Amino acid sequence: MLRALLLAPPGAGKGTQGDRLADLYGVPHVATGDLLREHVANGTKIGREAERFMTSGELVPDDLVTSLVLERIRGTSPPTGFVLDGFPRTLSQAERAYEWALENQLTFHAAVALEVPTEELVGRLLARGKTSGRVDDSEDTIRRRLEVYGDVTSPLLDFYKNRGILVEVEGTGTVDEVTDRIRTRLDALDLN
Ligand code: AP5
Ligand code: MG
Repeated sequence: MLRALLLAPPGAGKGTQGDRLADLYGVPHVATGDLLREHVANGTKIGREAERFMTSGELVPDDLVTSLVLERIRGTSPPTGFVLDGFPRTLSQAERAYEWALENQLTFHAAVALEVPTEELVGRLLARGKTSGRVDDSEDTIRRRLEVYGDVTSPLLDFYKNRGILVEVEGTGTVDEVTDRIRTRLDALDLN
């Protein structure tokens, strides 16, 4: 059962590849952005708290996101595999997730980093913004999301490298090409 996370900047293809990997490996795709947007759409307490951070491209507070994700994983049956998309995204989230994984003997097999040049990321998100309805797909907010990724999230690349599970993959080319690259790397791992 695959336990992987996608660690990549906005627009790199976490959602796109997350769906495919989840299908290929028969595990749930757990995307924090999607979970949070659902809360916002439903006007829940979590949604009301998260909305202003999401709209401005800032990160939602760690405690709120971490409990949301762990609740979602615990709720899957059997809870032994998953593809996480957009979590962990801060060192504190990564440490909390690692503690949880050790306690439950469910440590991650791979942190998949998708590498895409910044200008391509901006282009993809501006194009998506025309139809996505995502309020954060505007040029200023896209730039801010990329900045936050660089400052707060990209240090996790070293965190996972030090744990020996970082899998770096080129995220350009067709969607199929990227999936094949990731798959080749994951299939070379021992997924027990
Ligand atoms: P989140 O929803 O995770 O957004 P994001 O990280 O900004 O990433 P995106 O969803 O925009 O991009 P993606 O990497 O999924 O790419 P996609 O596959 O869509 O987070 C949103 C907000 O929620 C955050 O800003 C924050 O406020 C909050 N949040 C979420 N998680 C949090 C956490 N853990 N802690 C705190 N706050 C959190 O692809 C993008 C576009 O490119 C699509 O149009 C797609 O069709 C296209 N595309 C994909 N692959 C290719 C390809 N190979 N070639 C050409 N186009 C492609
Ligand atoms: Mg996404």
